[in-house]
Amino acid sequence: MGQSEKGITPSRGSFASRFGIIAAAAGSAIGLGNIWRFPYLTGQNGGAAFLLVYLLFIIGIGIPVMLSEFVLGRATQRNPVGAFKMLEPGKPWFLVGFMGVLAAFVILAFYGAVAGWTMEYLANSVTNAFSGKTTEEIATMFDTFLAHGYRPVFWQLFFMFLTALIVWAGVEKGIEKYAKVLTPMLLVIVLLLDFKALTLEGGTPGLQFLFSPDFSKLSSNSILEALGQAFFSLSIGMGTLITYGSYIRKSENLPKSAVIVSFSDTLVAVLAGVAIFPAVFAFGIAPGSGPELVFKTLPMIFQQMTGGMVFAALFFILLLVAALTSSISILEVVVVYAMEELRWGRKKATLIATLVVSFFGVICALSWSKTASWIIFDKNVFDLFDFAASNILLPLGGLFIVIYLGWFYGKGRVWREISNRGTLSARFLHVYMFVVKYVAPVAIAAVFLHGFGVF
Ligand code: PHE
Repeated sequence: MGQSEKGITPSRGSFASRFGIIAAAAGSAIGLGNIWRFPYLTGQNGGAAFLLVYLLFIIGIGIPVMLSEFVLGRATQRNPVGAFKMLEPGKPWFLVGFMGVLAAFVILAFYGAVAGWTMEYLANSVTNAFSGKTTEEIATMFDTFLAHGYRPVFWQLFFMFLTALIVWAGVEKGIEKYAKVLTPMLLVIVLLLDFKALTLEGGTPGLQFLFSPDFSKLSSNSILEALGQAFFSLSIGMGTLITYGSYIRKSENLPKSAVIVSFSDTLVAVLAGVAIFPAVFAFGIAPGSGPELVFKTLPMIFQQMTGGMVFAALFFILLLVAALTSSISILEVVVVYAMEELRWGRKKATLIATLVVSFFGVICALSWSKTASWIIFDKNVFDLFDFAASNILLPLGGLFIVIYLGWFYGKGRVWREISNRGTLSARFLHVYMFVVKYVAPVAIAAVFLHGFGVF
């Protein structure tokens, strides 16, 4: 295959440092999924019990799937479709990769819309638009914005433009540089918000909601939502981390990276919850409000802070960057697929993928306006995309990935990747193989069938 000394095919980029890969993968994982999606789902699904199930899925399914993706990516040095084609020529396994490419389109369409909302809120922060408003007025502000039509679309397109710009520049120059500095900064500002939220009067029920479980609030759909959120938040099930895995040097410790990335991702989600739920209760916002929860809650916290306008602006900038380091990892899947399988240039691939995603993105951004408020299966297009990607495409992708690794790839090859050809200890190999062979596939299949009412 013509490998260079780093073990990377010369024509492909690679991450230059240990911190680079962890930062880039954590940059992909940490994003709107932690700060927007996790709180809103936790709110809708009754709080602590949902959090507990979510944590279980992260540990029992999420980390093993992430490691499996790193293994397949680094071993094959390919995009998700190419990886399966190389490993299993002439067999239908490459369809798993295609499903990932499809998921990338679906996710990026609504992800760009939400990222657009953060840009509107950044603009609002800078112009001090939240100042002196009541909870009611802040809520109306968001609803009016969503119903507005062209503003959400404008921001969504602007965000896609930024995403495309970075992906256009390529791996080393783009992804790694941004992720390294800005992801840790986001953590700091979320901690500041936590501190403020914990001192809010009337916020304690929020902490109870988040940490004291009431299992009667869990429906079978909640369990599916928790699984979907684990996949979404960790960026797994669609080959993002196969793609990033293909940029990891042969000397990196894959299991350790998977654990660090999953842990940081989960930490940010929980800390976001700690910031948001006390405020939800203190200001009398309904925890089950849905996708708008965070956008109606956070401005209220900022309002209560001295120098709130500055914090608000800083927060929305960092959230925007977190969204960018995730969106580039999604677009990268499509672009590398087109480059390697269709032999397109990076620029052509970026341009065409961005145009297609943006088309669907506009429809998502318009979901609350009169122009395109179509209802399909009881959901608007935005909710439908969100649901289908996270709760169907990602878990299904993850299911096939672990089945492949557990039953077809071979223990010897798994050992080679996770021990770096015997240079690292891999004592947990048996446990890991047991999980990917039995535990994870059975759990994913069971949650899936249960969630869709099969049993
Ligand atoms: N994990 C990202 C987030 O939490 C979203 C994402 C999903 C990124 C799937 C890549 C693949 O925001």
